[in-house]
Amino acid sequence: MDAAASDALVLFGATGDLAFRKIFPALQALVARHGFEQPVIGVARSGWSLEALRQRLGASIDAHGDPADRAATGRLSALLRYVDGDYRDADTYRRLREAMGVARHPLHYLAVPPSLFPTVIDGIGDSGCATGARVVVEKPFGRDLASAQALNRAAHRVFAEPAIFRIDHYLGKEPVQNLLFFRFANTFLEPLWNREHVEAIQVTMAEAFGVEGRGRFYEEVGAIRDVIQNHLLQVVAHLAMEPPVGEGSEALRDEKVKVFRGIRPLVAADVVRGQYTGYRAEDGVAPDSQVETFAAVRLHLDSWRWAGVPILLRAGKRLAATATEVRVFLKRPPQQVFGEAVPAQSNYFRFGLGPDRMAIAIGARAKRPGVGMSGEDVELLVCNERGSQMGAYERLIGDAMRGDPTLFAREDGVEAAWRIVDPILAAPMPTHPYAPDSWGPVEADAQAAACGGWRAPQRE
Ligand code: BG6
Repeated sequence: MDAAASDALVLFGATGDLAFRKIFPALQALVARHGFEQPVIGVARSGWSLEALRQRLGASIDAHGDPADRAATGRLSALLRYVDGDYRDADTYRRLREAMGVARHPLHYLAVPPSLFPTVIDGIGDSGCATGARVVVEKPFGRDLASAQALNRAAHRVFAEPAIFRIDHYLGKEPVQNLLFFRFANTFLEPLWNREHVEAIQVTMAEAFGVEGRGRFYEEVGAIRDVIQNHLLQVVAHLAMEPPVGEGSEALRDEKVKVFRGIRPLVAADVVRGQYTGYRAEDGVAPDSQVETFAAVRLHLDSWRWAGVPILLRAGKRLAATATEVRVFLKRPPQQVFGEAVPAQSNYFRFGLGPDRMAIAIGARAKRPGVGMSGEDVELLVCNERGSQMGAYERLIGDAMRGDPTLFAREDGVEAAWRIVDPILAAPMPTHPYAPDSWGPVEADAQAAACGGWRAPQRE
């Protein structure tokens, strides 16, 4: 790992949506809380001026940042520089080189459409701007295994693997990190955390909103590529991995890659795809679109620890709530000692991953007060906090500037994750309609029937 901290941030796609929604607000937070003071060089081909970019920055902070912290916005605005030009034109990179001034370790952030990644990476390399540099590549990293491999080859023509930071912003989320921390910082979990005691694992990523003007993008992607191949498989890796042996980023990333390698490539019988009614009327969506806005999958993880344990994932847009939650169900007691009917719910661990609250809870049965020996479901809350102070992008950009790759996807991990979903991306499969504000198509219910049905994420 190159230990030198980055001394400039080059933002390709500075006038785009991602910069507006996520990157400028994260930079404002870095300026406000972490003493960020490196130049930020926006690059885009919009025909804009620096002044126009500064106005855009202001609007971004008003909409998604902390408008009250005008001092931080002012400091960030003063750090801003702008290079306008075509990404295919060598002169754009020559002017970038000039704008970088004395910086020797720039961090190039590719917030551009994936089709432009190779062009921009080559431009950075040919102009000498890659020397001593790192690159952050936004998701989606490819659209299947073959394209991800091609992209990795393109990136490696210019950057060595330790200099490539593939963003999956779920890894920057506090509760997703806490999942890992909670597992390995406590002794009581480990004896239970395996196929002897775990009956099933469920992960639900529900979003009440639709594609929100991103119809054109979403048509190319669908739920499996958009969030299952990356965000939800990363959550599974945190749940299922072995404790890292040794310290450092690679020990952790090695264990995660082993999980991906152990998951069987999906077959059609393990997948239910859905589409919310009304999706086809969204801007940029084909009137006969078959793209899935919901997917439920059953994973098989062939490892000593997890063999035979169903790992169920579902993700969808226009569902009944916005919440991401993990539940790990334990097996039931071998006998109903108190003559009760078998309770609907077994013991479980629940991890609320947001967006509003971060919760870890343990579900149990306790005696209902009174004469009889009958029980009720109770929950022991280990923590229940409002979303973290530190946003995912703030965390990840800060880490990339310092050159810490721990929370970024590695080449072998990304490819192993694509290998899991690859067979079903091209498979002809039905897309079942579902009503907005529901929990997806009824066809998905059968997947979870054997473990008590899908559980709706709990509102804290
Ligand atoms: C993005 C997906 O990666 O993650 C979006 O492209 C999704 O479709 C988003 O809505 C969810 O992340 P968060 O952090 O906003 O819950």
